[in-house]
Amino acid sequence: MELFIDSADVDEVRRAAALGVVSGVTTNPKLAAAAEAGSFRERVGDILACCRGPVSVEVLSESADEMLAEAAEYASWDARVVVKVPMSLESLEVIHKLERERDIRVNVTCMMASDQAALAMMAGASYASLFVGRIADMGYDADAVIGETAEFIERGQFQCRIIAGSMRQTADIRRSFLAGAHIVTTSFELLAQMAHHPRTMETIAEFKSAWDEARKRGELS
Ligand code: E4P
Repeated sequence: MELFIDSADVDEVRRAAALGVVSGVTTNPKLAAAAEAGSFRERVGDILACCRGPVSVEVLSESADEMLAEAAEYASWDARVVVKVPMSLESLEVIHKLERERDIRVNVTCMMASDQAALAMMAGASYASLFVGRIADMGYDADAVIGETAEFIERGQFQCRIIAGSMRQTADIRRSFLAGAHIVTTSFELLAQMAHHPRTMETIAEFKSAWDEARKRGELS
């Protein structure tokens, strides 16, 4: 059970990593586009410098040869770079070659169904990313998709880890872990919400005011 931060914002990753509860990072092209301008390679270098664990970087090429070249480039940046390859029929060959021939770890991304995840693990992927929020948007049961994927891994004895992404609320994080995700990747915003509860705040305030009153009465020093 591990938490990754889903962000391409260096400051956000640094803040999350300092909490000690995050063991990896996932980026995607949309997150990279939303972060500050500048060299993407430098940004990934900064992210690697401020966190432990794997950092996923996604290929944008479409043909198998181009994907392989792009993946090799990202993997050359650091041994902790995991190459994110979007699921498609063509990308299965890429996943297989990267993992088995080039010893590059692959995170198969943008997956919405356990059928896709089954192919990803058979191709040799180290990580299978299921997009929980987007699955639910289509009216499907994301917990069932995660559960089926976990069952496939178990039955096939694959060395593949499920990353549940596309979190929309803290309940998604909780449910994804319970459904069988090995890793949940979340925004900093949701991570912060996990630590917060209004009743916790009320309780802390109640205890403090009892302490302050007792001191005012001279009963505590
Ligand atoms: C996971 O690796 C993805 O970056 C991410 O969670 C995408 O989710 P979203 O675009 O639906 O928010």
